[in-house]
Amino acid sequence: MSKIRAAITGVQGYVPDYVLTNAELETMVDTNDEWITTRTGIKERRILKGENQGTSVMGIEAVKGLLEKTNTSPEEVELVICATVTADMPFPDTANLVADSVGMKNAFCFDVNAACSGFLYALTVGAQFIASGMHKKVIVIGADKMSSIIDYTDRATCIIFGDGAGAVMLEPDTSGNGIIDYIHKSDGAGAEFLHLKAGGSRKPATVETVMAREHFAFQNGRPVFKAAVSGMSDVVKQVMARNELATDDIRWLVPHQANIRIIETVSRMADFPIERVMINIQKYGNTTAGTLPLCLWDYEDQLQKGDNVILTAFGGGFTWGALYLKWAI
Ligand code: UT7
Repeated sequence: MSKIRAAITGVQGYVPDYVLTNAELETMVDTNDEWITTRTGIKERRILKGENQGTSVMGIEAVKGLLEKTNTSPEEVELVICATVTADMPFPDTANLVADSVGMKNAFCFDVNAACSGFLYALTVGAQFIASGMHKKVIVIGADKMSSIIDYTDRATCIIFGDGAGAVMLEPDTSGNGIIDYIHKSDGAGAEFLHLKAGGSRKPATVETVMAREHFAFQNGRPVFKAAVSGMSDVVKQVMARNELATDDIRWLVPHQANIRIIETVSRMADFPIERVMINIQKYGNTTAGTLPLCLWDYEDQLQKGDNVILTAFGGGFTWGALYLKWAI
C-alpha cells in the first residue's frame, strides 16, 4: 500500500444569479467593453444581491451540492476550512456558519485568509489532516463576496472582481492519486500594493474611514500584475522540476483568474499550451478564493482519473503558490 494522500473526491461551485455585464459597468464608471475585454478578458461577473446575504450564503449552496454529489451525510464531515477575505463577520468564521446551516455538527471549522491564494493554502492545510491519518472527510471552501469590498467608483479595480464560491471534498487515497507536492510563498512587503485600509484593529471603522472610502479594497494594479506573473510562473516551474515533470506530463494548468493577460503570460513563461489551461474568467471575473474551485467545477467533465494537474494562484499579502495533484475521480 502506498502512502496516504489527500485526494479531491468531489467538487461543486455556486455563483449568484445576478450578472453584472461590461455594458452595465459602462453606466457606473468611465469605462467600455473594449477596454475591459482586451485588458482583462472579462465579459461579465456575478453579484450576490440582497440584504443580509454574506459569503456564507454561497458557501452553503456549494457545500449542499457537494454533499449530495459525493453521497455524504453532513455528520460525517470532520473538518471544514473556508478560504475567504470577505467573511460574513470578523468572527465567528464563515466556515462555522456554513457548517451550522448545513448540519455538519461533528466538524471543527475555521477560515483561512490568504486573499486570492486562499483556496490553495486551505487545500494544503486540509490535505495535511488527511495525509496524517487523523481525518477521513475534510471540506475546503473558497468563497468571496468581493462586491462587498469593491469601490464601484474606482474603474481600475471594480471591473475585475465578482462573487462566487466553490468547495471540494478531501478523502484519503492510497492508489497514488491525490495531492503530491506544493510550493507556497508569502511576502508581506506586497501589502503596500493590495490591501483594505480600515475596519481592522489598526484603523477601526469610524465615520471618517467610511467617508474616505477606506473600507474598499485598494489595488495598485501594475506592480501586482508583474509580481503575479513572475510569482506564479516561478513556482509552477519549480514544482514541475522537483517532480521531474515535463509540460507534456501535465494535463491541466489551473491558474487563479485575475486577468487573461496574466494567465496567458504565465502559461507562456511556463511553456504551457493555452489549450490545456483552465480559463473561465470571461464569465465570473476574479472571485478571489473562488476562482480555483470554480475552474475545477467548470472543467470537471474534461478531467480524468490519474490526470496530472497543477494549480497556481497569486494574491494579496503577497501570497502565492503552486500545487501538484493527480486527479482521483
Ligand atoms: O487577484 C489577485 C491580484 N490581482 C491581480 O492579479 C490584478 C493585477 N492587475 C491587473 O490585472 C491590471 O493591472 C488591471 C486590470 C487592474 C489594470 O490594468 P492595467 O493595464 O494595469 O491598467 P493601468 O492601471 O496601468 O491603467 C492604464 C490606463 C490608465 O490611463 P492612462 O493613465 O494611461 O491615461 C488608466 O486610467 O487605463 C486606464 N484605465 C481604464 N480605462 C478604461 C484603468 N482602468 C480603466 C477602465 N476603463 N476600467
